[in-house]
Amino acid sequence: MLTLEEIFPPYGLAITCGDVELRVLRDDDLPELVELVRGGIQAPGAPMPFLQAWHEEPFSPGSPDGFPATSLAWWWTQRAQFQPQKWSLALAVRRRGVLVGMQDMMATDFTQTRHVETGSWLGLPHQGRGIGTLMRQMAVGFAFDELGALECGSGYIVGNDRSAGVSRKVGYVDNGLQRIAQRTADGTIGVTEQRMLITPDTYVRPDRPVSVTGADAVRRFLAIERRPASESKT
Ligand SMILES: CC(C)(COP(=O)(O)OP(=O)(O)OC[C@H]1O[C@@H](n2cnc3c(N)ncnc32)[C@H](O)[C@@H]1OP(=O)(O)O)[C@@H](O)C(=O)NCCC(=O)NCCS
Repeated sequence: MLTLEEIFPPYGLAITCGDVELRVLRDDDLPELVELVRGGIQAPGAPMPFLQAWHEEPFSPGSPDGFPATSLAWWWTQRAQFQPQKWSLALAVRRRGVLVGMQDMMATDFTQTRHVETGSWLGLPHQGRGIGTLMRQMAVGFAFDELGALECGSGYIVGNDRSAGVSRKVGYVDNGLQRIAQRTADGTIGVTEQRMLITPDTYVRPDRPVSVTGADAVRRFLAIERRPASESKT
């Protein structure tokens, strides 16, 4: 009988650096993830970081509305939409085995664009300890080294100083401002997003070695031909 990892190769992916590990979210992670979200994500005074205030929805387990039902639909959609033309890796971030946050990576028409977008968050008790920087370094390094990405994009709401700090430390450069709509708990508002871009030339690697397992199977599953970024500049 095949293993779950052989049936759905993203489950076999593990990116590890020191005591931090990124693995694709599984249903077994959900109870811990729901608890983590309930502990809070947005620091007091910080701008609402997401397009939609999913983390502030009323807690109503077992009902079709509110949290966690709406977020479950989102997390399961990432898995359901997996195809070479449009994929998302919802990576659960664990430090010393404890779930601390999520690092998302997504791409559309990756084999042509070689562009990956990322988004991330940590539970409040785990913020401000360098984990956000490390998990983004791990995701971006995976995109460059294992998938052959040429660039990774990201964005943060102007005023999200911690996210700006992560981008700066990892080596992103400014890629312009854009106006976006945010669905907050008080309604839809217009805000300014700072777009950021990173290429292998500016990327700052973690100061410890990173190990990756399961990348071959993921590349095959996503129809990605391995092409190291260094070979793709010409
Ligand atoms: C954004 C987030 C992922 C960053 O992770 P983190 O682990 O808290 O960040 P780090 O500890 O790696 O800090 C990165 C840098 O940000 C800067 N920084 C941290 N806290 C800051 C603050 N309160 N004000 C200004 N800069 C700050 C520092 O330069 C820090 O580098 P240093 O360690 O050299 O001082 C995390 O804070 C988070 O989940 N926030 C809520 C959700 C969110 O904003 N997600 C991002 C959406 S774009």
